Amino acid sequence: MSPRYEAPVRDLAATTRKHAALDNDFYRHWQSVPLPYTQVDVFAREFYARTVNTSVMVALSVLHTEDLAARVECVKNLYSEYGNGDPAKAHLLLLEQFLSDLLTRLGDRHVHPDDLRTGDPLPSTTAFSTGQRALFTNDDQRIVQGALLGQEHLAYSMLVRLYEGVRNYKHLYGEDEFHEACEYFYVHIGEAEKEHREQAVVSAVQVCRTDADLARVRRGFDGFLDLTAAYWAGVHDAMLAA
Ligand SMILES: [Fe+2]
Ligand SMILES: [Fe+2]
Repeated sequence: MSPRYEAPVRDLAATTRKHAALDNDFYRHWQSVPLPYTQVDVFAREFYARTVNTSVMVALSVLHTEDLAARVECVKNLYSEYGNGDPAKAHLLLLEQFLSDLLTRLGDRHVHPDDLRTGDPLPSTTAFSTGQRALFTNDDQRIVQGALLGQEHLAYSMLVRLYEGVRNYKHLYGEDEFHEACEYFYVHIGEAEKEHREQAVVSAVQVCRTDADLARVRRGFDGFLDLTAAYWAGVHDAMLAA
């Protein structure tokens, strides 16, 4: 890691806090009170549609980063996304289980994980996924690493905020049952996203040799944050209209 760019990369990563990708009306609404089924259903489908691509993006960051040390950091993240070798602990599977179970408890019919995949996502969610893929397949590894830095720095704070909102539905579960069901959140908050965050700093610093490199990392990073802000705004609007 070239120590010269470590502090600037960390400063860049810290800007997530005040960005609309994180400081926004969706999170305020989600955390406010228990919401009706129709709104939680919108959240669940759109969050699933967005998150289904997360591990694929990490895989793309491996392919689209030439720097060996940076690549190795991305591989660690990818391995973690796929449950550290245990398919039953793959993050996407934990999420499917959590969301379908929450909707089942909140509504009056059983919701199967496959039900989360029915219907088209919102245009704003599709725009997020398209823009995200463009960033993660960019020919410039510095753009790719900037996008990954954004994704992984938002992830920890996102999961904390989502979890705080999920606690509004705790009454639908038994005391122990609730915490068992929340495994998706706990793996991320307790460990995975802390590590991914740090791994993304290491890999972003690794591709910075000059100020121009840092500017390219920033472009990928800002691009990812702006896409995320628009995604949450779309989800929030659709929830209010549901
Ligand atoms: Fe994950
Ligand atoms: Fe992550």
